[in-house]
Amino acid sequence: NPSPSSMPEALIGVLGGSGLYAMEGLSDVEELQLNTPFGKPSDSLRRGRLGDAQVVFLARHGRHHSFLPTEVPYRANIWALRSLGVRWIISCSAVGSLQEALRPLDLVVPDQFLDRTHQRPCSFFGEGAVAHVSLAEPFCAELSKLLCEAVEEVLPPERHLHRGGTYLCMEGPAFSTKAESNFYRSLGCDVIGMTNHTEARLAREAEIAYTTLAMVTDYDCWHPNHDAVTVEMVIANLKANAATAQEVVAKAAAKLHQLRPSSKAHTALANALMTAKEHVP
Ligand code: ADE
Repeated sequence: NPSPSSMPEALIGVLGGSGLYAMEGLSDVEELQLNTPFGKPSDSLRRGRLGDAQVVFLARHGRHHSFLPTEVPYRANIWALRSLGVRWIISCSAVGSLQEALRPLDLVVPDQFLDRTHQRPCSFFGEGAVAHVSLAEPFCAELSKLLCEAVEEVLPPERHLHRGGTYLCMEGPAFSTKAESNFYRSLGCDVIGMTNHTEARLAREAEIAYTTLAMVTDYDCWHPNHDAVTVEMVIANLKANAATAQEVVAKAAAKLHQLRPSSKAHTALANALMTAKEHVP
């Protein structure tokens, strides 16, 4: 067993969603322009120090928000992070709430997905390399637990953290109809967004542990006493939340630092490959 000081330092990937285009507090920043077999990532990756931890930040929509959820180069993003040695991803994402108890400005760390996307590539496999990873538990339980502990340390008492919940991933870019929103509620979904399932699935294929810090920005369009979601609503609430997100990520990164790549996600391909390993890119 190597001593902690002799182990390589954990590198944590942070994906920023709408309204989170940079990580304040990141120091000694290097801008990395990468290319991958799946093209260029959404933006340059910014690697630096956040407190005691080493972090790579990537704005999933690009820093000027130039990619629709359908257009985000998810495979290039995950590939680029993995190529730098990232084995943990914290995804900071705005979500709509599908439940009364999940109020705008609350934080949710979901534990399940329902996928309703239909128009985007979402696997590294194909073209001769066949693999079926398990997605039964799509989030890394250890990483989610650690994230929740970090949230508890920084969240003011009037704000709430919800541990677990089902994230409905829709295609977008238009928001849902009331019928859809109520349908998702009837299925037991808790929050709604447009990006995380695709990322989580690719992260699993890349053997990266993935967790989501979901920030509730609106009640989508089902709530009789709240206006239907608009972009202004999402951005205003996210701005109010950005500082909290950064603090949480810094705390989580400091804790993560102590983890080693030993979660189930880190060996996802062990029993998933149908094609001989030498044929896998
Ligand atoms: N992101 C933030 N709020 C959302 C909503 N209501 N639907 C889909 N994505 C969202």
